[in-house]
Amino acid sequence: MVTLLENPLRVGLRQERVPEPQILVIFGASGDLTKRKLVPAIYQMKRDRRLPPEITVVGVARREWSHDFFREEMREGVEEFGGGIGPQELWDEFAQGLYYCPGDIDKPESYQKLKKFLEELDGQRGTRGNRVFYLSVSPNFFPEAIRQLGAAGMLEDASKTRLGIEKPFGRDLNSAQSLNRIVQQVCKEKQVYRIDHYLGKETVQNLLVFRFANAIFEPLWNRQFVDHVQITVAETVGVEDRAGYYETSGALRDMMQNHLMQIFCLTAMEAPNSLDADSIRTEKMKVLQATRLADLHNLELSAVRGQYSAGWMKGKQVPGYRQEPGVNPNSTTPTYVAMKLMVDNWRWQGVPFYMRTGKRLPKKVSEISIQFRAVPFLIFQSAAQQASANVLTMRVHPNEGISLRFEAKMPGPDLRTRTVDMDFSYGSSFGISTSDAYDRLLVDCMLGDQTLFTRADEVEEAWRIVTPALSAWEGSTDPASVPQYEAGTWEPTEAEHLINQDGRHWRRL
Ligand code: BG6
Repeated sequence: MVTLLENPLRVGLRQERVPEPQILVIFGASGDLTKRKLVPAIYQMKRDRRLPPEITVVGVARREWSHDFFREEMREGVEEFGGGIGPQELWDEFAQGLYYCPGDIDKPESYQKLKKFLEELDGQRGTRGNRVFYLSVSPNFFPEAIRQLGAAGMLEDASKTRLGIEKPFGRDLNSAQSLNRIVQQVCKEKQVYRIDHYLGKETVQNLLVFRFANAIFEPLWNRQFVDHVQITVAETVGVEDRAGYYETSGALRDMMQNHLMQIFCLTAMEAPNSLDADSIRTEKMKVLQATRLADLHNLELSAVRGQYSAGWMKGKQVPGYRQEPGVNPNSTTPTYVAMKLMVDNWRWQGVPFYMRTGKRLPKKVSEISIQFRAVPFLIFQSAAQQASANVLTMRVHPNEGISLRFEAKMPGPDLRTRTVDMDFSYGSSFGISTSDAYDRLLVDCMLGDQTLFTRADEVEEAWRIVTPALSAWEGSTDPASVPQYEAGTWEPTEAEHLINQDGRHWRRL
């Protein structure tokens, strides 16, 4: 247990700043994300007084909803997925700033209508032409929406307009490059906010604070002391009702190329010169450039895919991925991916980074674990195998916090050791639970702070790293070539082998 001795570090990652009055225009506003995450996050910010009263939200989607219907839908979202509406007057004030403007992504007239509507709202609500256009539509509509916004002149004023783009950004290196070109034709990089909601998680941001605001860990953070690193993002959910999207995506595109790569960057990068967005993003970019799959000639030694088969979760029988509604019965889409990455630089040469993510695993757990080298020679009797290696674990979820595993003397006359943990937990130290990632990201986007968003070159470099696996797997369409794991169990045996071949083991979480 760690006690809080002084004020939280004021390193710029959490300064309370209030954005300018503005309009957030959400494309895809009838979708799940708007109701579950975006509007509840904005409302929470309103409740926390982190937004000016003029803040206005305009939902855009094809359905012919009225403003009132949209307001009612969003109220339900806040009640069900947010912290509730709280005082009725507060909700009423917020709801007055919620509008809906039906439109088609591919019709220029929809953008003209929207443009006019936003100008009217500027007059009514004092939003002064400041806008965030947030694309929460299916990724295949991104290019069209961006071109149309450009053609309608809605992104022309770089000082007042921003573009938020949900993940996935592209579906491979080529498509990401082409999407970046489209973006660059209509606006400047400083207007672009590529969203990776993992960067909005407090625990992920805390990686930077932990590494660069504490003097004692950084000297150990290298090949001399670290044996290897494991990054795990495990989920219990299956594909749910997202088969349409997931069948074209899979775990490599949905999680590995973005969320896990971002966590990897913050774990492995060098110290930035400052906390400004470009210093951090440049360091992330440098570490990505030095990174590759461990063995490019024998792919199975550095990348493994898997797919869940029928099994049991919390006492309930669940179907296999290929039996899920909307999934091709011969699908080769991976629901699990494990990779071994190597970083060719002075800090990390020879230190493997093992990364894994999957659906229908036994637990929802995300963590980064730094496995230090064992002591060179053990003079004590140890109660556990491999007792002498220290492990530092940063828990992203659940029980957000950090623990350090070390050896301690067991009470008693013999000099025997046992492994124990020293633990810091956000909940008990700060007395509040960590906030949802989206409120942080939305407010930063409105403020024009790009630190927690990915830059064009970063996204492309992350695609480059996973491309050998992507190409090999897309080339093998035989359903029998995809290793299966039973729902409710950890990885397929092939993924065990990926790490066991090096005499190491996945952490059992
Ligand atoms: C999303 C993926 O980006 O992240 C989902 O598309 C996944 O498939 C989700 O379930 C996991 O996010 P979190 O914050 O619940 O770990």
